[in-house]
Amino acid sequence: MANLQRNTPTFDSAKIRNDFPILKRIINGKPLVYLDNAATSQKPQAVIDTLTTYYETTNANIHRGIYKISEEATAAYEEVRSIVANFIGAKEPENIIFTRNTTESINLIAYAWGRENIETGDEILLTEMEHHSNIVPWQILAEERQATIKYIPINEDGELDLSDLNTLINKKTRLVSFVHMSNVLGTINSTEEIIERAHQAGAIVVLDAAQSVPHMPINVTNLDCDFLAFSSHKMLGPTGIGVLYGKTATLQEMSPFLGGGEMIDEVHLQASTYKKAPWRYEAGTPNIADTIAFGTAIQYLENLGMDNVRAHEKELTTYALDSLTKIGARVFGPTNIEERGGVLSFWYQDIHPHDLATALDTDGIAVRAGHHCAQPLMNVLKVPATTRASLYIYTTKQDIDMLITSLMKAGKFFNNGT
Ligand SMILES: Cc1ncc(COP(=O)(O)O)c(C=O)c1O
Repeated sequence: MANLQRNTPTFDSAKIRNDFPILKRIINGKPLVYLDNAATSQKPQAVIDTLTTYYETTNANIHRGIYKISEEATAAYEEVRSIVANFIGAKEPENIIFTRNTTESINLIAYAWGRENIETGDEILLTEMEHHSNIVPWQILAEERQATIKYIPINEDGELDLSDLNTLINKKTRLVSFVHMSNVLGTINSTEEIIERAHQAGAIVVLDAAQSVPHMPINVTNLDCDFLAFSSHKMLGPTGIGVLYGKTATLQEMSPFLGGGEMIDEVHLQASTYKKAPWRYEAGTPNIADTIAFGTAIQYLENLGMDNVRAHEKELTTYALDSLTKIGARVFGPTNIEERGGVLSFWYQDIHPHDLATALDTDGIAVRAGHHCAQPLMNVLKVPATTRASLYIYTTKQDIDMLITSLMKAGKFFNNGT
């Protein structure tokens, strides 16, 4: 099925939906309309089948067994490193570290790189639109090292305001970490100016790509970021598996994050030596089955073509923006479709997002309501929370129409009591 989509100009979401068993569910008497893809995506049958097949036929621990199924499991696991490297344009599979998720990837940098490189008085630069997972690890590090955290502000359109970039990035700046695509505003941040300026100042750059890698073509070599983090579960793969991409030299220089089995060369009573990267950063038995199924998820996306995925989401986002604006919703983030992805956070008729999400659920519509792990951004936007609808490959115009109809119904209920 997925193969049929290769390079086809028209993107057939209706066909794609057949690959996702969960989309057949009926919720509160209505077909499920799943619009919480920024939180996690649904999984195609192929990914579910890979998990089952692995446990039915190949399950064994990897890297150490000298028998057939262990060798097969090792080969399948390591093949995914190549699949990931190829998918994001990394030079070598060794640039890819498997973690649990984006959060753990960023923490790995904060521990393994940060504790060796951040000193008293150093500056870490973030932006006002970060997810908590790209704030809190740096706060922990900054507190420990007496370093300072600074923030690139955002403007009224929900874009980064780079007018003070030359002051914000200065000779004290050691690390710049920012979100590639915002999980609240949908903003796709342009990376070139920030990365170039950071490198000129001798700082390294971390890209939080949790929302961009699933939705658009990414090439880390062209981006020239030092690290890039993302999660399998937001791109059709299982939970519990994430990626940290790092440049070769940086990965080889860093000390381990977690110590234990698998990551060592030799262990003596008083000291140990470690494997080279990336294995140095993968202590203990890894998440073998989910990693292998993550490989299937990436192949599914590759068969669709990431250009096609982006084109589909641009079309749908335009439709959703128009539809929401027409009914008077205030949508946050850029209006220019080239600068945003399919994450639509909004306020509608002053109804609290939690009430709105509950009302939508009665119509089988799953959206997210809350601060979306971005409390500092909520303060900048001067709202306690937003309602967020987020799209993916299986989202259709019909889904958006159902969202709009249900919102109007909720509006009548809350404001007219009918
Ligand atoms: C932009 C962004 N960064 C980081 C994360 C954290 O991802 P995970 O929970 O998979 O670690 C998310 C999750 O929503 C996100 O949207």
